[in-house]
Amino acid sequence: MSINIAVDGPAGAGKSSIAKRVSADMQIIYVDTGALYRTIALYVLRKGADPKNKDTVIPLLSEITVEPRFIGGEQRVFLNGEDVSGLIRTEEVSMATSTVSAIPEVRAFLLDLQRKIASENDVIMDGRDIGTVVLPDAQLKIFLTASDTARAERRHKELVEREGASAPSFDEVLRLVRERDAQDSGRKTSPLKMADDAVLADTSELDFEQSVELVKKLIRSRTGFSGGEG
Ligand code: DC
Repeated sequence: MSINIAVDGPAGAGKSSIAKRVSADMQIIYVDTGALYRTIALYVLRKGADPKNKDTVIPLLSEITVEPRFIGGEQRVFLNGEDVSGLIRTEEVSMATSTVSAIPEVRAFLLDLQRKIASENDVIMDGRDIGTVVLPDAQLKIFLTASDTARAERRHKELVEREGASAPSFDEVLRLVRERDAQDSGRKTSPLKMADDAVLADTSELDFEQSVELVKKLIRSRTGFSGGEG
């Protein structure tokens, strides 16, 4: 049986960067499920459709193939054969993703794909409902979180590094973090919530290396898996 580790938590808690590093250190595949939802949102935006209007979004699903490919240990995501890995990382796509991911048909559309990858590979999979819905039998579920201000600070720093003077202000980033939290936690289908059997890991006071160590320690102690680390 493959090793499945579920990592859920709010945007900006460090899930993806931590999971990516754990994946490299322990030689398990990192599956970024947010990227799959983002790919759908990108298609919706490209079509000029309103992400909030499920009657226009749902029919578009039949026009889409979303395919993650794992190249050199990195996940890239393809939309109808086009590599859109870079294009899905804008704030506009982030907000639209939070909106379309609340549509049950969108979630159902990606469910089998996520389960198939996890059944065929040792994975650390991050998202919002991995421990609660996608992989209820995962050997380890981690709910990774941090305060909203700590998350907004990290996100703001990233944006300033990437965009310099045109990056949004800290207050704007904090507002978007809170808006996305409310949307992700408040939706009816698969809201962001900690699974009953998940381990809570709060990284507000931890730096990146400490957070990685914490997750690796949990994996070793709770699953006995030591991956590439002997
Ligand atoms: O992890 P991320 O920031 O790339 O996720 C983008 C949005 O997608 C987020 O607002 C919530 C949604 N999402 C989801 O609903 N379920 C997942 N498994 C992953 C992401």
